[in-house]
Amino acid sequence: MHSIYQQLCVDHKHIQRLLRCMRGLAEPLEDEGIDAERLELMLDIIDYIKNYPEHWHHPIEDQVFSLLLLKHIPESDLLREIICDHGRLEKQTIELEQIFRSVAQGCVVPSGQLQQQSQAYIAAQADHIEKENKWAYPLMERYLEDDDWDWIGQKIPQLDDPLFGERHKGDYHNLYENIIEGEKDLLQ
Ligand SMILES: [Fe+2]
Ligand SMILES: [Fe+2]
Repeated sequence: MHSIYQQLCVDHKHIQRLLRCMRGLAEPLEDEGIDAERLELMLDIIDYIKNYPEHWHHPIEDQVFSLLLLKHIPESDLLREIICDHGRLEKQTIELEQIFRSVAQGCVVPSGQLQQQSQAYIAAQADHIEKENKWAYPLMERYLEDDDWDWIGQKIPQLDDPLFGERHKGDYHNLYENIIEGEKDLLQ
């Protein structure tokens, strides 16, 4: 398959790893509250989601789904729903960022609310990826040719993933280490 399609699939695996890390941070929030380290990690995660999944992955998918809509495939309603999901998820990212930024600025936010909003966000992101993997990505395989992918690639230039990509570990070094440590714990 085309390299853009492969990158989209890899992105999903990476986002799922990120969500696993986020779950680990959100779970103790209600009982333990939030400390400076967890707060920084949460803000790094949100920052990364805005800088890569929402800056490259979603726009590429939007181009792909729009192209599939132009082909008038029978699954068009599903694709329109998934395109709308992107706008909804991006709004949720801003809301989550606002709540954690207000904590960073010293506002008191009930820890139950922090946990609830984080978990709702994680669930929405995870459901979206599952829906795409199950219903939308097979349509890409079925209906798109290499020429279509080349056309999509010309519209949005490839972007290196700043967390999981080859040149990662700059701004997100601490987050990356945390993801790796969490995965090691799961293996034990
Ligand atoms: Fe998506
Ligand atoms: Fe996706």
